Amino acid sequence: MAKILGICGSPRKGATEYAILQALEEAKEIPGIETDFWTVRGKNIGPCIHCDACMRKAEKCTIQDDMGELEKKLLEADGFIIGSPVYDMGITAQLTAVLNRLRHMYLVHGCNLQNKVGAAITTGGTRYGGQEMARLPIINFFLMHEVLVTGGLIGGYTGASIWSKDAKEQGAKDDEVGMNTIKRLGRGLAEAVKISKYGLEKWNVEKEELGITSETEKSPVKDH
Ligand SMILES: Cc1cc2nc3c(=O)[nH]c(=O)nc-3n(C[C@H](O)[C@H](O)[C@H](O)COP(=O)(O)O)c2cc1C
Repeated sequence: MAKILGICGSPRKGATEYAILQALEEAKEIPGIETDFWTVRGKNIGPCIHCDACMRKAEKCTIQDDMGELEKKLLEADGFIIGSPVYDMGITAQLTAVLNRLRHMYLVHGCNLQNKVGAAITTGGTRYGGQEMARLPIINFFLMHEVLVTGGLIGGYTGASIWSKDAKEQGAKDDEVGMNTIKRLGRGLAEAVKISKYGLEKWNVEKEELGITSETEKSPVKDH
């Protein structure tokens, strides 16, 4: 089995949560795909204060909140759908905090999300409210963590967009064009996850046989 984790950056049960869950349902249509879901809704998540405790391998984040379970879920998953409502043409403060707080995963733990696959969903109250722009920070997060990025099947471009008209779940449901990008994202991501997982398994065996060390292990980030 391969697992896709949906992460929702909306503080409420609305258009974004619905869109992510629909994309996960579509992904499950591909045999061998299971899904999981995590949301910022109802959670206490503090912003990074740059104390650098997480940069020292033996130490943990000094902020005591609800981030704990997410890291385990990220490591268990083979693919990710990260979704956010558009807030001022960017992502929500809650999702920004979540992404910032995962910095140690690539800087200290050798990019432990490397070669998993990620896709981004954004929902905006207006038709052209910055959905594409708001996907950039999510895509940048994937790139920094060496997560492979897909926009889904053709037509999605950088990912899926919903025009919710500020009408929460019903608004997303009513956006027929947007929901089509959601379905195509779920399907395309599921296929990419399987391809990446099969490929990785084969490549890891081959690497072991040939005694090849990955570039990330050979040259960890220094003085970046
Ligand atoms: C603080 C704030 C800023 C927003 N900024 C935008 C915006 O720049 N563009 C847009 O289209 N919608 C904007 N919206 C509307 C939401 O993006 C939209 O209602 C979204 O679908 C909400 O998702 P949710 O139902 O999952 O919470 C904003 C909403 C809030 C609360």
